[in-house]
Amino acid sequence: MMACRGIAALLVCVVGVTAADLCLDCQEDTTTAEPVDLVLYYESMCPYCRTFITTQLYPTFTALPSGVLNVTIVPYGNARERQRNGTWEFACQHGSVECLGNLIATCALNYTSYTPSDYMPFINCMETSTVHGHELTALHKCAAANNMSEADLLTCVKNEDSGVLMHQMALTTENAKINFVPWIVVNGQHTTSIQNSAYRGLMSFVCKTYSGPKPTACKDVTDAPVIG
Ligand SMILES: *[C@@H]1O[C@H](CO)[C@@H](O)[C@H](O)[C@H]1NC(C)=O
Ligand SMILES: *[C@@H]1O[C@H](CO)[C@@H](O)[C@H](O)[C@H]1NC(C)=O
Ligand SMILES: *[C@@H]1O[C@H](CO)[C@@H](O)[C@H](O)[C@H]1NC(C)=O
Ligand SMILES: *[C@@H]1O[C@H](CO)[C@@H](O)[C@H](O)[C@H]1NC(C)=O
Repeated sequence: MMACRGIAALLVCVVGVTAADLCLDCQEDTTTAEPVDLVLYYESMCPYCRTFITTQLYPTFTALPSGVLNVTIVPYGNARERQRNGTWEFACQHGSVECLGNLIATCALNYTSYTPSDYMPFINCMETSTVHGHELTALHKCAAANNMSEADLLTCVKNEDSGVLMHQMALTTENAKINFVPWIVVNGQHTTSIQNSAYRGLMSFVCKTYSGPKPTACKDVTDAPVIG
């Protein structure tokens, strides 16, 4: 708001539109503030992960202009890996169907060159629609809904090389020393306060954390619930 107050105020008097309308473009163009950096460690079938992705992360990510929230997701969670005869094998907390879900997500990340705006709609769709044991049905639906090639994603899933991609997720997750999922790291930090604030009211938390001019989407956000 601040950056355009002068000219906005003038125009408001003249044409009677709201300051927010006028500031929408200029504030997104002029800020040099760093985005809020969020890394989510999750596994495909964990209920709280699904809740966080579909009710907090995805809606917040889509509501904010680009450059405000930098999202990275790491679909591995509490899985375990071992290398056998040259190939990686994985065991997942919610069984082999969860490993498949993690792998589909990992292939979607690779398919979109790890570009959040390209993979998040697909990930949100998977977390919304997957019925336990019917991962490939969800893949079919979510690929079509997001103009991604189901065949390419399936090729990745069935390719032994996808184990190498998943192994990278394992290494990243091990480095983060997570204790549970979803595990939320913001600007390189994980604390109980950050975790709870982000989990319960991500929009409010990101709006407070972002140091640049507040985007319009932050205007109507009420304070996050008290954190414990
Ligand atoms: C977004 O996060 C990724 C992964 O942590 C990082 O490599 C990248 O530099 C970040 N982008 C911005 C604009 O901060
Ligand atoms: C290990 O890989 C080799 C070459 O691919 C194969 O011939 C052999 O049967 C494999 N061994 C086991 C135990 O899977
Ligand atoms: C869908 O993807 C194809 C291949 O990547 C691309 O050529 C096409 O423009 C995309 N269509 C839409 C509506 O995004
Ligand atoms: C990952 O993406 C790269 C670049 O698009 C592609 O060449 C590679 O085959 C993909 N890996 C797998 C396992 O699909």
